[in-house]
Parts: sequence; C-alpha cells; structure tokens
Amino acid sequence: MAVERTLSIIKPDAVRKNVIGAILSRFEGAGLRIAAAKMLHLSREDAGGFYAVHEARPFYGELCDFMSSGPVLILVLEGEGAIAKNRDLMGATNPKDAAAGTIRADFADSIDANAVHGSDGAETAAWEIAYFFGQREIFRAES
Ligand code: PPS
Repeated sequence: MAVERTLSIIKPDAVRKNVIGAILSRFEGAGLRIAAAKMLHLSREDAGGFYAVHEARPFYGELCDFMSSGPVLILVLEGEGAIAKNRDLMGATNPKDAAAGTIRADFADSIDANAVHGSDGAETAAWEIAYFFGQREIFRAES
C-alpha cells in the first residue's frame, strides 16, 4: 500500500475536553506518524476558506463559528493508506452512527462538535495540507 499524507484537525471541542494526547495515541497506535503539527485559533475567515467547498450547505455558518470558537491542533499524518486509515479511526461524521472504539464514538458529543476532521481523498488531502503548511513544516519519517 502506498505511503500517503492526510490532514487531521483535532477540533475545539476535543481540545476543550483535554483529549489531544488520547487522540494522538490512536493515530500512533494505528501506525500513522505525525509529520507536521501546529496549534492555531482559526479566524472565522480561516475556517470559511477551509470549508469553502461546503459554503452552500445549511450548516456552513455554524460549522465556521464552531471551528473558530477555540484552538485546534492541525496535523499532517503520514503512513500506508493514511487517508482511509484516519477516516476509519475517526468513525462516522455523526457520533451517534460511529462504530464503537472510534474517536468520534469515544470523544464527540454531536454532529456539529465531532472532535476530529480528516481529509476524504488524495486531492482533498493535498489541498488541505497546503492550506495550513509549507513544505518546510512537514517532516518525512526517518527509517
Ligand atoms: S464528510 O465527513 O465530509 O463526509 O461529511 P459531510 O457530511 O460532507 O460534512 C462536511 C463537514 O460538515 C460537518 N457537518 C456538520 N457541521 C455542523 N452541523 C451539521 N449538521 C453538520 N453535518 C456535517 C462535518 O463534520 C464535516 O466537517 P469535517 O470537519 O470535515 O468533519
């Protein structure tokens, strides 16, 4: 399987709950490496640009308000099949539907405060990583 990079965001609800470390352990435990990390308090404009693809959806405004409501930890995860692996670890968008043992089942409260974001495909991952990180901020794993 190819080594991939994907963008992950530990959202404001999870940062407020003090479960950053618990979530990072899930990634590392599944064989993903943290290739980049930064903690930011997004402006509403930052959030709006990141979620621009969802601009027409009814929850867009609330999503941008929520994502700019407190600090987030933004990560580049690297590993074999990283995009799908991260989505599996996250669980379904709505925590009510998320499989037992997934991050959202264990740490999210609702569909609008659902603990983590993860890129949904290779093109999206490349765009999302470039939205937050320059090449010099991303580190390849030493083997
Ligand atoms: S996904 O994960 O992209 O397939 O899910 P999708 O349903 O397309 O949702 C896109 C992002 O919008 C968030 N979302 C919502 N926010 C607030 N309220 C409601 N009702 C809602 N429904 C979906 C969802 O968590 C996705 O954000 P990210 O950050 O990608 O998880």
